[in-house]
Amino acid sequence: MTSNSDLVARTLRSVWHPCTQMKVHERLPMVAVSHGKGAWLYDFEGHRYLDAISSWWVNLFGHANARINAAIVAQLERLEHVMLAGFTHEPAVLLSERLSALTGGRLGHCFFASDGSSAVEIALKMSHHFWRNRGQPDKSRFAYLTGAYHGETAGALSVGDVALFRDAYAPLLRPGVAVPSPDWRHAEPGEAPAQYAGRCAAALEQALRERHREIAALIVEPLVQCANGMGMYDPEYLRRARALCDQYDVHLIADEIAVGCGRTGTFLACEQAGILPDLLCLSKGISAGYLPLSVVLSTDAMYDAFYHDDVARGFLHSHSYTGNPLACAAAIATLSIFDQDAVIEANRRRAARIDQLARPVAAHRRVRNFRRTGMIWAFEVDGVEPLFARRFSAAALERELLLRPIGNTVYFMPPYVIDEEQAALLTERTVELLDRVP
Ligand SMILES: Cc1ncc(COP(=O)(O)O)c(C=O)c1O
Repeated sequence: MTSNSDLVARTLRSVWHPCTQMKVHERLPMVAVSHGKGAWLYDFEGHRYLDAISSWWVNLFGHANARINAAIVAQLERLEHVMLAGFTHEPAVLLSERLSALTGGRLGHCFFASDGSSAVEIALKMSHHFWRNRGQPDKSRFAYLTGAYHGETAGALSVGDVALFRDAYAPLLRPGVAVPSPDWRHAEPGEAPAQYAGRCAAALEQALRERHREIAALIVEPLVQCANGMGMYDPEYLRRARALCDQYDVHLIADEIAVGCGRTGTFLACEQAGILPDLLCLSKGISAGYLPLSVVLSTDAMYDAFYHDDVARGFLHSHSYTGNPLACAAAIATLSIFDQDAVIEANRRRAARIDQLARPVAAHRRVRNFRRTGMIWAFEVDGVEPLFARRFSAAALERELLLRPIGNTVYFMPPYVIDEEQAALLTERTVELLDRVP
């Protein structure tokens, strides 16, 4: 029988874990997970942990969800994988049709990959290649928001602005054009989020006016910059950015890898601004946290710019597992759950109830900027000592909570199946942690 300590000892010998300075595990316990059910994860000794961050923001409908399990098993019996060049299969086609329908058919072409970062690479390459095919090869730089995070591969890091992830690789990255983030935590005292968004849009206009000849696209995380401590902003910025990109012949890339799939209260975050981008990246929740899948949706205009007798004008990018049928089947089951269970509306009620339960958190003397967008709650904690995030996380595990603060920002991003009792446990124990973790 596997025990927690055996597995942890073996993992520390053999597995190089992501986003981890491995030496910290000399002191910090690693959690060995045996299985999951709904919002709970269990170790080998029966301890449970409430997955309040949806396992890095991917899980939507709980662990071991019967409907998604069944869809994957059914697909497994038919076809596990086939390459998507020269071949096609029902899950890829059906998923593309359904995703396109969610944009009213305006983003009608789906290009598949596996992880979020690969979707970002695809969007960046596609944008530049579009301009090259159109006779404007100098459009090869990208504008991005300060504090942006778009993944860890070299292209994605080039449009990212989180020093911890970027600095070591700076010599490998291609400089872009950073423009001010509309994250309202940076607003002047008394300045409303929409006003601040307007001020940032004016700065964007200046950057585009001066450099549009070399800028292929602006990439944004619509409404919430998650990795930058859940920086939230007003949809006004997206409306203005859309208009400015049109005015200056610059693509708008919406990275909805973290914020898509209902996370911000609408299926796509862009819906709240009434806009669509030229390229839309989805991943994480699209397969409900089951299998690596990402997709870049594009306009007809984008697609048409590559459609030609000349092979080199085509978009020749590929990954071996592009459009994997099992992952697509998980995604189709995910979209069906959205429809069958009216998830967006149910989440509205769920979020309002969690707001009530979270009042003691919001009112806590150490809490600043308590905020929510859709199914994301976040706040800054005052009076923290060094390594707060690490200590808070360890103390949370002792209280059956999986929480991973970003700096002094604590956030909840629970699966959409979190129930009343679990939400009460989450908020009550968070108050306890705020009382006790300096
Ligand atoms: C907005 C955003 N873009 C891209 C990524 C990268 O996705 P992945 O980790 O699947 O490569 C993330 C991951 O957190 C993200 O939050």
